[in-house]
Amino acid sequence: MVELEHTRSLLSELGLNTASELLDAKLEDAMHKNSTYLSFLSELLEAEIQEKKRRSEETRIKLSRLPHRKTLEEFDFGFQPSIDVRQIRALSTLAFVARKENVIFLGPPGVGKTHLAVGIAMQALKSGMTVYYASLAHLISDLKKANLQEKLARRWRVYTRPDILIIDEVGYMQLDRASAELFFRLICARYENGSIILTSNKYFGDWGELMNDTVIATAMLDRLLHHAHIINIRGESYRLKNRIKGGVKVVPPADIPGLDNMARGVQTKTGD
Ligand SMILES: Nc1ncnc2c1ncn2[C@@H]1O[C@H](COP(=O)(O)OP(=O)(O)O)[C@@H](O)[C@H]1O
Ligand SMILES: [Mg+2]
Repeated sequence: MVELEHTRSLLSELGLNTASELLDAKLEDAMHKNSTYLSFLSELLEAEIQEKKRRSEETRIKLSRLPHRKTLEEFDFGFQPSIDVRQIRALSTLAFVARKENVIFLGPPGVGKTHLAVGIAMQALKSGMTVYYASLAHLISDLKKANLQEKLARRWRVYTRPDILIIDEVGYMQLDRASAELFFRLICARYENGSIILTSNKYFGDWGELMNDTVIATAMLDRLLHHAHIINIRGESYRLKNRIKGGVKVVPPADIPGLDNMARGVQTKTGD
């Protein structure tokens, strides 16, 4: 018994707290199963590693500021036939993150842009990557505030460091010049350095108006779309699903015109 206590405290001292907690149970289990020393030890260490991974994932999920934890498994692709399931499956392998490529979800409200962005992010977090989520409005106000407090350099890293930066809801807010420049600088900073997943209800042809500056908008799109996977969702709002079933007429959202023009000459990839 003294030996058990001693071993437990040795494990704790090494920082192997899960192994320390499980020592009793694993020992008993090993005796029951007539395990070898080696398999007992590897089981104990395995449990420690599993717990470390779980805690690290939980911490990274919290730091990512995702609005929820919806997964790709929870997404009903049957409801949104304009989405190429194979393309989403290819993105979920996260090869695009290693290649620092971007993913852009376009479409009207409620079609699942945020859900899919979060779903890919959850997959990335599970595999040990870091993610940061912000709506464009939040990102801009956060960076402006940091700038006023002369903390921009520190805050900047929050947006440039993660393996994936999600910029949600581009298009709901028109940007003034200072905001457009900040946004542009961020896109430049991440260009070929780290992936961006961006969602927008606006087609690229409208970005000049959105940024109040066509020169900035063009330069921004040039970088954003250079290595980008574009998913254009043409469909009905999932939020209105039941109302549609109930017979309430919902005007179908229009296709996103201008996408093909804007994407011309731009390398877009479909799945790999
Ligand atoms: N095809 C789908 N299958 C399951 N849930 C969906 C689907 N599309 C949207 N949703 C759900 O509907 C709501 C709105 O989707 P969201 O991703 O926020 O839309 P968007 O960002 O395009 O406005 C969310 O709760 C989301 O989980
Ligand atoms: Mg959304």
